[in-house]
Amino acid sequence: MKVDGVPYRTIWLAPDGTTVQVIDQTLLPHAFVVRDWRRMEDAERGIRTMIVRGAPLIGAAAAYGMALAMAADPSDAMLTHAYTVLMASRPTAVNLRWALDDLHALLAPLAPPERRDAAYRRAAEICDEDAEICRRIGENGLGLIRQIKPRSGERVNALTHCNAGWLATVDWGTALAPIYQAHDAGIPIHVWVDETRPRNQGASLTAWELAKHGVPHTVIADNAGGHLMQRDQVDFCITGTDRTTRCGDVCNKIGTYLKALAAHDNGVPFYVGLPYPTIDWTLERGADIPIEERSAAEVSRIAGRTAAGAVATVELLPAGSPAANPAFDVTPARLVTALVTERGVCAASEAGLLSLYPDRARAA
Ligand code: MRU
Repeated sequence: MKVDGVPYRTIWLAPDGTTVQVIDQTLLPHAFVVRDWRRMEDAERGIRTMIVRGAPLIGAAAAYGMALAMAADPSDAMLTHAYTVLMASRPTAVNLRWALDDLHALLAPLAPPERRDAAYRRAAEICDEDAEICRRIGENGLGLIRQIKPRSGERVNALTHCNAGWLATVDWGTALAPIYQAHDAGIPIHVWVDETRPRNQGASLTAWELAKHGVPHTVIADNAGGHLMQRDQVDFCITGTDRTTRCGDVCNKIGTYLKALAAHDNGVPFYVGLPYPTIDWTLERGADIPIEERSAAEVSRIAGRTAAGAVATVELLPAGSPAANPAFDVTPARLVTALVTERGVCAASEAGLLSLYPDRARAA
């Protein structure tokens, strides 16, 4: 996607062919800064501190982390070390495990001198594949948007939570890809953007990227969605996911479940954009997904730009009040109208997913 007319992905290789470059998402929307990663430890820190975030991008970043490790030392010991360290960088997004398992299976049988180039090649392939997957999610979601008859007025109103746009992936996004394609196709579409406390990925990232692409949008407090649905101001909800079980339970940013409940109560379709590496075929129940508990400081403080233009962080809570910060929740499959994947649209159920991914059926 473009930033001020210049095409960008979220992660790419510098002209030296070794350094990995990423957009620092912790500084958006106030500053657009590109970071250089020269060592595997830079990638680990970048994922852990959310310089890069979003399930598909976390997978791509981990793949390049393995490549950086192999550039430094292609030994068996480093292969194991990098796999272990990167795997521990964030717990929820299953794309991390998917990418690391993929790289490890590719590299382990190779002689050490062959590992560096093979790792860089595969990381680049994973990035290209992610961009193409997201483009196809966009096409498949566009088919759904074309069928929507707006409940009020002329425009189609979408509601999204957190950031599952191009910043969460390599390009296009998952939840936002259909919205970009609808906008580009001339469909009048407007997006209600949940601010998504506590880290505000909606207010900081989704609003920023929609604005850069010229998509009409309005940022709302996380608590406003149910009210807007009651007033026919939302035609459909669409979110991404960090891990979806083989039975269609959707783990996503905290607060997604509440939106799905409100959508269900108001007969508003609730869609989830989903690339195949985000499906955890090893799990049936969403309750078995480990949920990341992030720092209480994300709840007790907030950062923003002052009138003077400086970025400042302020305290919100009375001194001594504790805060808790579960970062994800699970929306049960029964509340999800459909999953929108690169292979098509399906029911949020094992049968639905297997209709698109029949190779994942268990042997009878
Ligand atoms: O904690 P984050 O910002 O990495 O979480 C990302 C999300 O939960 C997004 O909502 C997104 O849908 C999943 S990635 C496409």
